[in-house]
Amino acid sequence: MNRLLDVWKWIDDRSGYSDYVLPLMKHIVPRDARWWYVFGSATLASFIVQVLTGICLAMAYVPGGDQAYESLKFITDQAFMGSVLRGMHYYGASAMVTLAVVHMVQVFLHASYKFPRELNWMSGVVVLFVVLGMAFTGQLLRWDANGVWSVTVAAEMAGRTPIIGPALSHFIMGGETVGGSTLSRFFAIHVFVLPGLIFAGVGLHLMLLFRHGVSEMPNRDEPVDPATYREEYEARLKKTGVPFWPDAAWRDAVFSTVVVGVILLCAVFLGPPSLDHPPDPSSIQANPMPDWYFWWYFAVLSMLPPGLETWVILGAPVLGFLVLFCVPLISNRGHRAPSARPWAVGIVIAGAAAFVALTIFGYREPWSPDFGVPPLPESVVGVDSGTVAEGAKLAHSKGCLYCHHIDGYGGHRGPELSYIGDELTADDIIIRINNGGYNMPAFAGNVTTAELSAIVAFLQTRKSKDVVTDTSG
Ligand code: HEC
Repeated sequence: MNRLLDVWKWIDDRSGYSDYVLPLMKHIVPRDARWWYVFGSATLASFIVQVLTGICLAMAYVPGGDQAYESLKFITDQAFMGSVLRGMHYYGASAMVTLAVVHMVQVFLHASYKFPRELNWMSGVVVLFVVLGMAFTGQLLRWDANGVWSVTVAAEMAGRTPIIGPALSHFIMGGETVGGSTLSRFFAIHVFVLPGLIFAGVGLHLMLLFRHGVSEMPNRDEPVDPATYREEYEARLKKTGVPFWPDAAWRDAVFSTVVVGVILLCAVFLGPPSLDHPPDPSSIQANPMPDWYFWWYFAVLSMLPPGLETWVILGAPVLGFLVLFCVPLISNRGHRAPSARPWAVGIVIAGAAAFVALTIFGYREPWSPDFGVPPLPESVVGVDSGTVAEGAKLAHSKGCLYCHHIDGYGGHRGPELSYIGDELTADDIIIRINNGGYNMPAFAGNVTTAELSAIVAFLQTRKSKDVVTDTSG
């Protein structure tokens, strides 16, 4: 018995457990924090899930152009627990992004970023953007059409940077196009670079948490005055504080357990996202859908007039980061209570509403091809046999309608073709179909000469006066 005690004393002395770890666990926190404060620790818990499942996945995953897809199939279908691990890593990513944002919103609403916790907030914002980087690079590692397409969009974004654009997009893709070397690059970033940054960022974040203490629930009668805040905080803690462990931490433990449980249940019952087709950047069958937390952004991009796109594509993420990062610099004193900061509540409500609306919009279309379009009915085509009718059928079967709409039928990825006969000659249309364009695949190898002339014959009938006769008849 004594021996054991000696061993423990040795470990305790050499490691500093009693001197460093215990005080952290036992440090005094405000009593009133309660359930509001569980989101930060739950974000950390989901990060730990990501690290553990990520390591397991990396043991079987091959970051090579030809084998990545195969190795994921192996993990999903054959490896021991592979499907559950992939699922946990997938839902864990959603959980981490969601919880990090909820945590940030809570801190913003309670203005916990004010003096002396400005750096807590700023380090948190940096970590949030790195987490989004993780979510994004992770999508490519799935190496299916979705991932490849998302990265193509990102590379295009980066390519528009003034001066350094081409070099930047070359760096992201590891070459001129998305290919095997892109995958190696993203793998290195996803498993070494960004996790390293997150560990460092979270470490700093936690250190600052202990340095300045957990903020109290905001109180209308106690606005923050940097000159006196620290003393007042200490005095209040003395009166009403409780030790972090176990008085406050049990709520964190309960909530984190629920979060991990939900991630596990989703993984078991919903399973990992199915791998769609292996990537083929020229294939129009690719269903270009990034993970849900990015839909709103693609919706925004789709609504912009082309002239503005460049600026927003590039500027929005940078501006978003700067604005968030600088929040404590804009105001670090005064009221913390939401009731005294109605504009803060307004920002959160407006932001949430915009997010929901844009997400729904982004999910529905219009930036993505619509693969569910029906063929054109005869009322639109005008005839039910002959070359023109044949061309109308081909416009559906060849996928033109995925992206183009004609009299209300079809997707909105490309321009409307209802009156294209007024605008382009047969030759123009042939050139366009053969060569494709910006966001339109080239069809040269995909249609026969006969099919091509049928499509062109049909499109040539799309004139505004035809439409008038159509609706009258
Ligand atoms: C993946 C989406 C997509 C598919 C599939 C697609 N297009 Fe397009 N198409 C576009 C986009 C985007 C543009 C605009 C390109 C540009 O401005 O460079 C476009 C432009 C055009 C134009 C020129 C329109 C104008 O107003 O100048 C024509 C004509 C056209 N497409 C016909 C077709 C036909 C015919 C098919 C089927 C064989 C087809 N497209 C398939 C996305 C698509």
